[in-house]
Amino acid sequence: MTAIRKSNHRMTGFSQEGDSAIFNMEEDFGAHHYERINLVVRRAEGCWLTDENGNKYLDCLAAYSAANPGHHHPKITQAVMEALTGNYASVISNVVYSDPLGVFLSKAAKFAPQMAPRFGNHGNKVLPKNGGVESVETAIKAMRYFGWKQKGIEDGKQEIIVFNNNFHGRTISVVSFSSSKKYSEGFGPLTGGFVSVEFGDIFAVKKAINKNTCGILVEPMQGEGGMKLPPKGFLKGLRTLCDENDLLLVCDEIQVGMGRTGKKFCFEHEGIVPDGVILGKALSGGLIPLSVFITNAKIMDMVFSKGSDGSTFGGYPLACVAGSAALDVFEQEKLAEKATQKGKILKEKIEAIARKSPHVKEVRGKGLFIGIEVKEGNAMEFCTKLLNLGLIVNDSHGHTIRISPPLIITDEEIDFMVQQLEKVLVG
Ligand SMILES: Cc1ncc(COP(=O)(O)O)c(C=O)c1O
Repeated sequence: MTAIRKSNHRMTGFSQEGDSAIFNMEEDFGAHHYERINLVVRRAEGCWLTDENGNKYLDCLAAYSAANPGHHHPKITQAVMEALTGNYASVISNVVYSDPLGVFLSKAAKFAPQMAPRFGNHGNKVLPKNGGVESVETAIKAMRYFGWKQKGIEDGKQEIIVFNNNFHGRTISVVSFSSSKKYSEGFGPLTGGFVSVEFGDIFAVKKAINKNTCGILVEPMQGEGGMKLPPKGFLKGLRTLCDENDLLLVCDEIQVGMGRTGKKFCFEHEGIVPDGVILGKALSGGLIPLSVFITNAKIMDMVFSKGSDGSTFGGYPLACVAGSAALDVFEQEKLAEKATQKGKILKEKIEAIARKSPHVKEVRGKGLFIGIEVKEGNAMEFCTKLLNLGLIVNDSHGHTIRISPPLIITDEEIDFMVQQLEKVLVG
């Protein structure tokens, strides 16, 4: 490795085991459901990951946007530690109230603009879960129930419009409408009730709407689908179609929300307000699994009644403490503004590299969510070379290098990243 070597001190992290022992444990006892890179991380701090030998790697992936405020952000870590030592971290069951949950729900409800304003100014309500896909499932339930109760669609006939090359997670229902065969093959029977159309094609959406359509589920910018922005006006077009046909428009902002693209929510780039929004990943600063579905209070109260949903750990105190602290950090540290400023600098530098590079097909993105599509379509080869130079990056959709560092990245760290990108893309 030619990564920055900071010390000769052996970093053992959690265990005293060496790298090869850890590799073997994961290979022997874990399911092989991820493509891995050959690196055991022992520490994560700010924008940097450290291995056993003290080699440091600039994290340009930020756990797919989970580590937006930087790893182990001191204020979020402190809040979590206080909850642990203060004995208010443990799951206490949802039959009782807890102050971390109450505080978090009120903060998260106010964090989003009034959802579904056409239903009235009732404020927002929040349903918390753990991993992001669970909140996608919550949103699907909400859209279906709304279709049945509000629109009179026969139960079981509800349809949701989704988009080709979407990524919303990997539960059975969610992989049922994935364009990627590897996510669903062999896992049938799959869940029906989803119609997938071309991302960005408003006429295809219009054509797909019928009397059973209850909602549209969209990523305002596709992350896993190749770092793709929809054509200008597309989200506005979806908003209009949903208004005209009384459909719920739900934006999955799990990867692109919380400041990643330079706005609190990516949908703000088009000046629209959806009927519901899904957040996860960075919602707790990457420390504890926490996700939410947020919608107009009127819709939430129509859709969910006692017993119709629930989760043992959804909204448990430790996650809520982390979530509240992460929401505070988001505002106090102006993370969205940082993503705009640093993203502009970084994108200009990457575009300058692209002009000299024989490999780059296109640079695209917003804020600190930048994709470099390579002509050869083998982004992972470049990612491997970058790892050897001290950068953690990953591909999106095979052909695109995904650059999404923590939003606290400094100018010096950007320069380090750009120098390595130049070595690999220009030579
Ligand atoms: C847009 C989007 N939706 C949903 C998910 C699923 O989230 P999780 O992996 O936390 O279940 C992801 C994860 O990468 C995502 O990027």
